[in-house]
Amino acid sequence: MALDIEALREEFPILKREVDGKPLVYLDNAATTQKPQCVIDAIVHYYSYYNANVHRGAHRLADEATKAFEEARDILASFINAYQREEVIWTSGTTESINIVSHGLAQLLQPGDEVLVTEMEHHADLVTWQQACLAAGASLKAAPILDSGELDIGAFEALLGPQTKLVAFPHASNALGTLNPIKELTAKAKAVGAWVLIDGAQGIAHETVDVQAIGCDFYAFSAHKIYGPMGIGVLWGREELLREWPVWQTGGEMISTVTYQTATWNQLPYKFEAGTPNVADAIAFGRAVAWYQQLNREDVHAHEQALLASASQQLAAIEGLTLVGTAPSKVSVVSFIMAGGHPADIGFLLDRQGIAIRTGHHCAEPLMNRLGLPGTARASFAIYNTQAEVDALAAGLRKVQMMLM
Ligand code: ALA
Repeated sequence: MALDIEALREEFPILKREVDGKPLVYLDNAATTQKPQCVIDAIVHYYSYYNANVHRGAHRLADEATKAFEEARDILASFINAYQREEVIWTSGTTESINIVSHGLAQLLQPGDEVLVTEMEHHADLVTWQQACLAAGASLKAAPILDSGELDIGAFEALLGPQTKLVAFPHASNALGTLNPIKELTAKAKAVGAWVLIDGAQGIAHETVDVQAIGCDFYAFSAHKIYGPMGIGVLWGREELLREWPVWQTGGEMISTVTYQTATWNQLPYKFEAGTPNVADAIAFGRAVAWYQQLNREDVHAHEQALLASASQQLAAIEGLTLVGTAPSKVSVVSFIMAGGHPADIGFLLDRQGIAIRTGHHCAEPLMNRLGLPGTARASFAIYNTQAEVDALAAGLRKVQMMLM
């Protein structure tokens, strides 16, 4: 049965609001998705009914909080087909997940080693490795993209070698929407013995993620990109790697034994979960994923791809508007520039019409430099967006064009 988008929209209270008397048209889903009522309720219920610290207390509330917290981990482990639940590390989001790996990597790299990324990297998946390489005297390489925004696979492969210790790339580009062939890239990197980390921030809400089938070593993602709360995310890593990987932060939950001279680390996943975790949001993340899993994934994919196709077609037909990122395989992200209009002005003038998009370099400054652009305007679609909203965007842009003339 096809998705009932109107019924689904009813579950998102924020979609009923207006902006300056106009219905909100929320097209900034790559920045963050809105939350269904059940996710909001999960947070309210936790703080109203069983707020307690986990794994520590000898009382009913602590038991209930611990159970719900660990059940959420099980939901996430099953969602991405982790080999084991212990491989799911709670973090504050994709950025912290990548930082955990890069912080450890800085201690493992030697001068002469290389880390390979791509030209379409988000700062979170670039600066982290850049700093690890700088600390270790290693080098960072960026595999080029084609003008369409696709990765140049031949050039990617040519940059791989025995010196490559880790390869990192986005599942999908936040700025262009390009969907990368992650299994193929992983296989190429594994063939030279490199570790592989995938920045899943923009992939997790659009594509089925099966870490075993992909064959990567680490997959990082955030709850808020997939209808969950902000401030919580996951680092998934292979158990045998995480067991050996240098620790991130110290203190609290990640400790096993301590003397004044030394300390030993807790078992996985707690080894990487220092301090009191974000219990409420972890539980709500589990709720968001459980909610999302009730939907038919093929229908979700077909709906988002239909919005993408319609938006791409309608926007490309506007004179003076150029799409940025035209890879054949994309998630539902449309980036564009308009002759005579700075992206910031386009965003401002669309906002006056109740239409929310993102403008700027999208935390991908080197990518914008590669494209020779100061930035783009970007509309990004989620499952609750409608064809009428795509039409409103196209009509809104025509108005913007008139205003800028
Ligand atoms: N990285 C997020 C985006 O692309 C915030 O908007």
